[in-house]
Amino acid sequence: METVVSGIRSTGKLHLGNYYGAVKSFIKMQHEYNCFFFIADYHSLTTHPTPADLHGNVKQVLVEYLAAGIDPEKATIYVQSDIPEIPELYLFLNMNAYMGELERSTSFKDKVRANPNNVNAGLLTYPVLMAADIIIHKATKVPVGKDQEQHLEMARTFGNRFNRMYGHDYFPEPYAFSFTEKLVKIPGLDGKGKMGKSEGENNAVYLSDSPEIIRKKVMKAVTDSGPTAEFQEKPDFIQNLFDLMKVVSSEDTYQHFDELYNKCQIRYGDLKKQLAEDMIVATNPVRERINDIASDTVYLRKVAQLGAEKARASASKTLQEVREIIGFKHF
Ligand code: TYM
Repeated sequence: METVVSGIRSTGKLHLGNYYGAVKSFIKMQHEYNCFFFIADYHSLTTHPTPADLHGNVKQVLVEYLAAGIDPEKATIYVQSDIPEIPELYLFLNMNAYMGELERSTSFKDKVRANPNNVNAGLLTYPVLMAADIIIHKATKVPVGKDQEQHLEMARTFGNRFNRMYGHDYFPEPYAFSFTEKLVKIPGLDGKGKMGKSEGENNAVYLSDSPEIIRKKVMKAVTDSGPTAEFQEKPDFIQNLFDLMKVVSSEDTYQHFDELYNKCQIRYGDLKKQLAEDMIVATNPVRERINDIASDTVYLRKVAQLGAEKARASASKTLQEVREIIGFKHF
């Protein structure tokens, strides 16, 4: 059975981008593959959270994984920092990860541009840690959004480099995966790019947002006075609303509004109302379970402990073999 690995950073609540880009695939894949889904708390250290925030955010992601329907009996759910073999593999991979290639990573360049005063080594070697996460379980499929494609390419590079260097065909190649035809990129409500946690509070719709908040955020989305000619190309800040509709609404609803747009008869107020209602319906089952699960600390502890045990069994087997391949031997 093929092995699947993916994770989400513990940086706060999950939004529709995380859900449609990653978590929906996790839920489907758990029935068909040997799945490892984790909370990337080491990765979230690049932005220096307080200890209380870090802990709260790890819990938040764990709760939302479970609320979304990841089943700990089917998939291995764990916290990255419970697996010390991961940073050990990261150290080994770092010896053959080169400054130039790390500096060329698009997400590194974006981070440097966004925050030039916090260009730490953890940020630079982020893709190496991510490669360690994936290849430690010898995964071949990695359900992620479009923004992670380059990181997957780098994971293949580091795994292949290890194989070549030590003359072993040891790590298989992992590829980004989505159940939809293409990897998903969910736009934000502001139409300025992808939905993200750092792109402003009103840009993202969270799985835990109440119906009132969802309605408010969607109604605030910027629109214009409408198309002036039939079949006019949609500007980015309108296209995003249609793209969001494509994922949360039915095909009929999408077609209906697309037709109105093409005939210059669209009323954006109606479109936004419909979009908000469909987002509420799409997120309802998750939102309803969040509070119950969050209050069950005993259950959460059990899930994390069970997951850590299973993930460590897999990771330590790889590490033992890797150490031998490298030449670390006991006297
Ligand atoms: P993070 O927390 O930034 O994102 C988690 C997942 O959500 C997806 N995603 C999106 N997909 C579509 N549209 C969006 N607007 C959107 N925003 C976020 C991301 O593609 C990702 O799948 N580096 C990873 C965390 C990680 C990881 C790993 C993933 C660490 N190690 C090993 C897979 C395997 C990340 O971006 O997290």
